[in-house]
Amino acid sequence: MTQTTPDAPVRRQRAQVKVRTLRTDRWWLVPLLTFLGLSSFLVYGVWAIIDNSYFVDPYIAPFASPCLATSCPEGARLFGLAPFGDWYALPPGLLILGLPGGFRLTCYYYRKSYYRSFWLSPPACAVQEPHGKYTGERRFPLILQNVHRYFFYAAIVIGLILAYDAVLALVHKPIGLGTWILVVNAVLINAYTLSCHSCRHITAGRLNHFSRHPLRYRAWTFVSKLNAKHQPLAWASMFSVMGADLYVRLVAKGIIAFPYA
Ligand code: FES
Repeated sequence: MTQTTPDAPVRRQRAQVKVRTLRTDRWWLVPLLTFLGLSSFLVYGVWAIIDNSYFVDPYIAPFASPCLATSCPEGARLFGLAPFGDWYALPPGLLILGLPGGFRLTCYYYRKSYYRSFWLSPPACAVQEPHGKYTGERRFPLILQNVHRYFFYAAIVIGLILAYDAVLALVHKPIGLGTWILVVNAVLINAYTLSCHSCRHITAGRLNHFSRHPLRYRAWTFVSKLNAKHQPLAWASMFSVMGADLYVRLVAKGIIAFPYA
């Protein structure tokens, strides 16, 4: 064992695993499933951005909301507005993709999962990694992951807009299956957003005396409970947003057409 004195420099390097792995369990299963899950999300997202069937009254597909381009159908525009002029000819979903996308990309949980499953750095505990050196997130480009808290602010707005979309569908009669799908999705997206580690830090992370800030303490307690479920909420909200988006598009294309769809 290496002994360090208080004045000795701390050696920042990975533990050296001399053999490929010391593990005898199926350690590769979780990284593999994570790789497949995240890849399906990426592939679906690319398709959804270029697909034009994102609105059928009263539903708007979550990947295209808020719809801010002039090309958005009248009922799909957020508050009836289209702040981007006629010059914008690309898919409307591209305008807002960076905000929820950046939020997930820089999420602490997703970072762990794609560092392991895509970069194999390392793929699992006590498993050798293919990379020769490790610099963590102290240098460019990974130091940019620190912008996560700013994506969190944007994600709060996006979550509120998805909740607004669900309420618009709720007040539309008759209520269809799509309404409940949008409601469940809005709940999961907002629960995932509020369970964010940055949110927990913002609510009361720097307080020394909870007793002097009872409201922030209550908010922190609530967020901490959600935070303990951050990983399952990350997956549940990812599949719910894909499912809700696909459902709306299938209704818009006429592929799903049963009464009260
Ligand atoms: Fe995962 Fe903020 S840490 S969303």
